[in-house]
Amino acid sequence: MTSHQWRRRHLLSLADLEPWEYDIVLQTSASFAEVLMRPTPKVPTLQGRVVAMLFFETSTRTRNSFELAAKRLSADTLNFSPGTSALHKGETILDTAKTLLAMNTNLLVIRHQYSGVPHQIAQECDRLGTGVGVINAGDGQHEHPTQALLDLFTLCTQNNVKQPSLTGLQGCKVTIVGDIVHSRVARSNIHSLRAAGAEIHLAGPPTLVPKMWQTLGVQVHWQLEPALQSAHFVMALRLQKERMHQHFLPSLREYHREYGLTRERLTLCQPGVKLLHPGPANRGVELTSDIMDDPHLSLVSQQVNNGVAVRMAVLYLLSTAKITD
Ligand code: NCD
Repeated sequence: MTSHQWRRRHLLSLADLEPWEYDIVLQTSASFAEVLMRPTPKVPTLQGRVVAMLFFETSTRTRNSFELAAKRLSADTLNFSPGTSALHKGETILDTAKTLLAMNTNLLVIRHQYSGVPHQIAQECDRLGTGVGVINAGDGQHEHPTQALLDLFTLCTQNNVKQPSLTGLQGCKVTIVGDIVHSRVARSNIHSLRAAGAEIHLAGPPTLVPKMWQTLGVQVHWQLEPALQSAHFVMALRLQKERMHQHFLPSLREYHREYGLTRERLTLCQPGVKLLHPGPANRGVELTSDIMDDPHLSLVSQQVNNGVAVRMAVLYLLSTAKITD
């Protein structure tokens, strides 16, 4: 157990997270995972606090997961959707955020299609001296810190359910397959997996997995087979068609033929390999349905389930941080 104390007000990126900070998140998530197994899976920890969800982009998992996490901690939640908001009347994003702050919001959970929006709102909150914490729930192609933290928790709890730690992944081969270049999930996962000392391999077509990503300390493969060879964990990523403004692929069928994950291809991996996908998945494109639904192989439901405990941990840590400034 680490003796450090959490000091961050915002969670915007994993780029500069220290190993002990990952360990605090993992250990706090394990405690909340235990709470979620109780007959009454709720604690009064954030009673009276307000968590506002500002989702400028569509979301099923992340939004519901944060909402449930906040409710399990007994916080009150506010929900903002651009379609039904005053944004349509010309209000700026910052003014929308300020309106929610004026309702004594303590934490803002922000998803936006443009990279950097959560950072901008966090800066404004700091400038105004609000003491409000901002969580990046996915900004453009940049980062998705809580997705990577729940992926990390899912990986680290495979061997040690009760006391997951970052060192548990040392030397494990983790292969990420798909549309890396447009993926905020890949970026955040590379930060956390590097901190954990995992061996990271990226696979996909050259248009979606540029060689220059190797400068991040990962190995890039344009052929799937060597990337899968002896892997302990394989993570499939969705083709982010909404972010492809050029022709990156000849066709989905061809993509599946070259890079689609199948049961046969996974035999190249370590025996007992586990499969992850952040969702939403395109069945028959990045992976076949039978492997996605195989409970011996797929960690997809565990990822979703763990997401609530990990987001409870993040909400709790940011709201109880000892900030000295
Ligand atoms: C991801 C996202 O939105 O970045 N999904 C998620 O949050 N679970 C990945 C994706 O959209 O493909």
